[in-house]
Amino acid sequence: MDAQLSTLQTEALAAIAAAADETAVEQARVKYLGQQGAITALSKGMKDVSKDDKPRIGKLLNDVRTAVTAALDERKTALLAAADAAALAGVDATLPGTPSGFAGRGTLHPITQLLDRTISIFRRMGFALADGPDIETEWHCFDALNTPADHPARNEQDTFYMPDGRLLRTHTSTVQIRTMEKAAPPVRIIAPGAAYRRDEIDATHLAQFTQMEGLYVDEGVSVADLKGTLEFFFRELFGNDAKFRFRPHFFPFTEPSYEVDIKTSMLGSSDRWLEIAGCGMVDPAVLEAVNTKRKDRAFDPEKYTGFAFGFGLDRLAMIMSGTPDIRYFTNSDQRFLGQF
Ligand code: PHE
Repeated sequence: MDAQLSTLQTEALAAIAAAADETAVEQARVKYLGQQGAITALSKGMKDVSKDDKPRIGKLLNDVRTAVTAALDERKTALLAAADAAALAGVDATLPGTPSGFAGRGTLHPITQLLDRTISIFRRMGFALADGPDIETEWHCFDALNTPADHPARNEQDTFYMPDGRLLRTHTSTVQIRTMEKAAPPVRIIAPGAAYRRDEIDATHLAQFTQMEGLYVDEGVSVADLKGTLEFFFRELFGNDAKFRFRPHFFPFTEPSYEVDIKTSMLGSSDRWLEIAGCGMVDPAVLEAVNTKRKDRAFDPEKYTGFAFGFGLDRLAMIMSGTPDIRYFTNSDQRFLGQF
């Protein structure tokens, strides 16, 4: 038995050392330690060993089993390490990695970038930020802004009405009213935010878009202030060679009213005037509507005048970036947004 065991150990260790791959290691395990394996067979022979020899032979058998098991594990680990090394042999670990799908840094949305620039330019001129709700009363959206009940803008087809009669504001001019309800002159605010119209969505229209409102009410505010403020703002945005045209227009809440057109080399070689904003001098009727609501004379039109303006940020962003379709701004397409 002694001799058998030592021969078996030598043979098993040699076979394991010669195993060329994982399958060969497994075959060796089955051959020696498996249910029909050689070492298992010898264990079964223990019952025929004499009582005196049992402890010694038993220990010997255990030693062989331990040695073979250890050799199997060792060989397996060595084979795995060799396989890893072979797989890595052709790889240059100093090369830069392959970028994943959304590689690179994220950027702010182009409308947000324009919004930030717009705010910082108006801040330099002393305008504060103001805010108002998207879901508005008819009074704030129309009545207070001198827009009578039969005005086409109040048509159900033109805006979204809630069951309770409130509506999604059709312009940010509502914030003019919201601000004057709370503050006394001088008031100098800008109010960026969403505006809604029941427009068919196409290349130049969205049902929700972004507007920037402005309001300045104080003693002695004139059309010259309005023109100076808007021209300064748009020159900061479009460059010093920009030319402006204040074209007479009509808004219910301003008198006189203008639309602002711009011509600039930044818009390419085209010699066209582009309409970019609506504006005008705050109508005294608007100040009186606010006074009535406030139950005071804080915005006495005999004492105060003001100007207001509004423009669409989406439209400006389209013009500035040469984007032909406004829907690009809402489609979350990385190929488009990643350019900004
Ligand atoms: N609210 C107007 C619009 O949406 C723009 C505007 C604002 C005009 C302020 C005059 C003064 O078209």
